[in-house]
Amino acid sequence: MSLLELDGVKVHFPVKKGILFDRTVGHVYAVDGISLKVEAGQTYGLVGESGCGKTTLGRAVLRLVDVTDGSVVLDGTDVAKLPEKELRSFRRRLQMVFQDPLGSLNPRQNIESILSEGMAAHGIGANQDERRERIREILAKVGLPANSLSRYPHEFSGGQRQRIGIARALVLEPDLVICDEPVSALDVSIQAQVINLLEELQESMGLTYLVIAHDLAVVRHISDVIGVMYLGSLVEEAPSDTLYEEPLHPYTRALMSAVPVPDPEAEERRERILLTGDLPSPANPPAGCRFHTRCPWAQPKCSQERPELTDAGGGHKVACHFTREIRSGELPMAGGTAAVVIPAQTTQEPESAPETETPVAPKEEAPAAPEAETPAASADEAPAAPKAETPVASGEGSEEK
Ligand SMILES: Nc1ncnc2c1ncn2[C@@H]1O[C@H](COP(=O)(O)OP(=O)(O)OP(=O)(O)O)[C@@H](O)[C@H]1O
Ligand code: SF4
Ligand SMILES: [Mg+2]
Repeated sequence: MSLLELDGVKVHFPVKKGILFDRTVGHVYAVDGISLKVEAGQTYGLVGESGCGKTTLGRAVLRLVDVTDGSVVLDGTDVAKLPEKELRSFRRRLQMVFQDPLGSLNPRQNIESILSEGMAAHGIGANQDERRERIREILAKVGLPANSLSRYPHEFSGGQRQRIGIARALVLEPDLVICDEPVSALDVSIQAQVINLLEELQESMGLTYLVIAHDLAVVRHISDVIGVMYLGSLVEEAPSDTLYEEPLHPYTRALMSAVPVPDPEAEERRERILLTGDLPSPANPPAGCRFHTRCPWAQPKCSQERPELTDAGGGHKVACHFTREIRSGELPMAGGTAAVVIPAQTTQEPESAPETETPVAPKEEAPAAPEAETPAASADEAPAAPKAETPVASGEGSEEK
C-alpha cells in the first residue's frame, strides 16, 4: 500500500447568491476527480497553471477544506472520515510548507515559540527543555544557527525563513510533507539551496513529499513521479524522467516546449507550442476533454467525451482520446486553430502570432535560464549541476543573516 492514496477526490466550492437567503447558483469545480498515489520515501510533484486546483488539492489532503467526493487515505486511514477530535492528533502526521515563508510565520513570536507551539499541542517533548533540545537539532539539520531560537522572523532572509518553515513542519515528525510552491517566493539562487535542502532532508530523515509548483523546473529536480494538472484533473502522470523524455499529453507538450534547453543544437530543434487563451473558469469548465478549447489536436469527439487517465505503457498515464495517433504523428495539428507551432529553427516569436496568444510557460522559467550555478533554476540545468556547488547544510551560501 502507498503512504498516500487519493481516489476520485473532488472539491467543489458552492457559489452563493442572494441577500436574505444564500442560494447556491453554481459550483467552482476546483478539484474534479483526482486519483494518485504517493509512495513512502518518494516525492510526487504536482504541476499546473495558476488556478488549476493544486493548492485546493493539498488543502483537501490536510482536510483544511472538505472533500466533496472521493477518499484521501494516509497510511490506511481515511482522512476525510476522521472525527474532528482524532483529526487534530492525526494532523501531526501531515505537515505543510507554505509558499510565503514570512506570511506563514507569526512576526510576534520568536523561533523557539513558533516551533515549540505545535510540539506542545501534539505532546512532543516532556517539557520545554526537551523541546528546545529537539528544536536545536532540527535547526542544525535545516542549516540555521542555534542562536536563531531567540530571534524573530523579520531578522532572517527569505531563504532562511523558508528553512524555518521547513523546520516547523519537520519538528513534528510528519509522515508526509506537502510543500506548496516552496521556492516560488525566493530568489532563483536561493531556490536551488532550498530544493537541495529538501532533498537532503528526505534522504537523511526518510521523508515523503508532495511538492506543488507551477514551475516544471522545480518539480523535475526533486520528483520521482510527476502529475500534470489541468482545470481540476490530472492529464498526465509518469516517472519524472519518462515525462521529460516524452511528454504525451498536448498540454504537457506545450508546457515543456516553453522550457529553454541549454544545448544549442537541441534548443534549435525544440518544438514550441503556444496556446491561445487563458485557463477556462473552473466554475464553468468546458464539456468533454477540458483542454479541448486550447488543444491544437482537438477533434469533434474531444468536446463530447471526457477522456480517462489511462496507462499508455510503463506507468505513463495520459488523459487523451488520441494519445497513440498524436504520438505517431498520424494525427496532425489542426492548422490555425488553437496553437502556433514555431518551426524548430526559429528562435523568435512569429510576427504573425495573434496578440491574444499566451504561452503557458511558467513565468519564472525564462529569466531562470542564465543561472548556471543554480541547479533547480532550469529544468535542464538541474541534474547537471553538482550539489556541492550550492552548500546547503551550513545554511550559509549566499543567504544573508
Ligand atoms: N474557498 C474557495 N471558495 C471558492 N473558490 C475557491 C476557493 N479556494 C479556491 N477557489 C478557486 O478554486 C480554483 C483553484 O484554486 P487553487 O488555489 O487551488 O489553484 P492553484 O492551482 O493553487 O493556483 P496558484 O498556482 O495560483 O496557487 C480557483 O479558481 C480558485 O479561485
Ligand atoms: S482528448 Fe482531444 S482535446 Fe483533449 S488533449 Fe486529447 S486531442 Fe486534445
Ligand atoms: Mg496555489
